[in-house]
Amino acid sequence: MPEYTLRLRRYDPESGEAAYWEDHTVELEGHRSVLEGILKVKADEDGSIGIRCSCRAAICGSCGVRINGKPGLACHTHLEAAAKHGAGTGWNPPDEGQATPIIEVEPMGNMPVVKDLIVDMDAVHWKKVRRVTPWLINKEPIPEREYIVPHENMVDVTQTMACIQCGACVSDCLSMEVDPGFIGPAALAKAYRFVGDPRDAQQKERLVDLSEDPHGIYDCTHCFNCIDACPKGVAPMSQIMRLRRVASADYEIEDRNNGYRHEHAFVDNIRKNGLLHEADLLPDSYGGKFHPRAAPELISSLPVITKALVRRKVTPTGALLHKHRKEYKGLREYFDTIEKHEKRYELNLYISGYEDDAEGAETAPEVGVAGSSGQPSAPGADPHKSDPSEGGGV
Ligand code: SF4
Ligand code: SF4
Ligand code: FES
Repeated sequence: MPEYTLRLRRYDPESGEAAYWEDHTVELEGHRSVLEGILKVKADEDGSIGIRCSCRAAICGSCGVRINGKPGLACHTHLEAAAKHGAGTGWNPPDEGQATPIIEVEPMGNMPVVKDLIVDMDAVHWKKVRRVTPWLINKEPIPEREYIVPHENMVDVTQTMACIQCGACVSDCLSMEVDPGFIGPAALAKAYRFVGDPRDAQQKERLVDLSEDPHGIYDCTHCFNCIDACPKGVAPMSQIMRLRRVASADYEIEDRNNGYRHEHAFVDNIRKNGLLHEADLLPDSYGGKFHPRAAPELISSLPVITKALVRRKVTPTGALLHKHRKEYKGLREYFDTIEKHEKRYELNLYISGYEDDAEGAETAPEVGVAGSSGQPSAPGADPHKSDPSEGGGV
């Protein structure tokens, strides 16, 4: 029977001692889970080890931890896989001098530790989920029988419904690390659950709220960590991008955080230059170089610009004189083709397609299934312009 060293992060706030690592060796088949290993240590050696779990089947979301530096479910990670694919600082396979492979297990990040591997989900995760009004605000009048929701719309929100609220995405959200006020990936994915539901009466109000909040949808930095972390393929970042797209393209919500203008300036910049011209992006996001709104932003960015120049990240010529390269001029045709379409399709991926793009419409669902979501995609779903009378699932 193989042996594994479980290196557990121990911390008891009541003891007054600092956190420390503690090694335990377990003998278990490699296909058993990290959670089983921890529970064995707890049963055989030290009953005081704090770990939260319930279903042991990747359903309840209570056993979220960091394994070798990466967030995940302890019950859903095999010991052999954790030993083999350890990516964090503590991984040290036996052929590098260790008697047994070391599997580091520590509490999730971005949440206060209650004890050992248990974090306070209520203080961060649940508080943020409550922030997005995580329930349906139904349209009136209430139908005599059930609401009929088009099948496409249900498929559209299925991906977010797969969330088991484990907090793994919250644990590794880089924006939340910098700005603890950020609403965060799990709660924003939950918000899309209702924004994408045609039964909800307050799609626009929800979007205005999330756009105007300085810690809302425009606070995400596209780091992809939440997509990597999620054990259920919810792809929270993709849901955030969909919220942005609906807020910006469909409702044209011009938020005070400048998210709307920045997004439009970005697209215009690429259309014009083929490649992003960074020097224009900032002033254009604030209405152009000579717009009164742009001046304070440019002045406040001077230290960063100076640092970039000193470290030769940019040169004055490169910054001011962008090469409008000929080979990118053809890109404008793509913009023209895309923008002349009236109806947009939303897929369960970070992708848009269009009605009369027959080939794209046919192949896109396969892309969705093969994507990180593992959920069916939603060909043709346009949750915000749907007609519930079209019938379909409930
Ligand atoms: S992509 Fe956005 S929401 Fe997801 S982890 Fe990164 S910053 Fe957070
Ligand atoms: S989105 Fe994924 S990682 Fe985040 S809480 Fe839900 S299931 Fe967990
Ligand atoms: S114990 Fe329920 S998800 Fe792991």
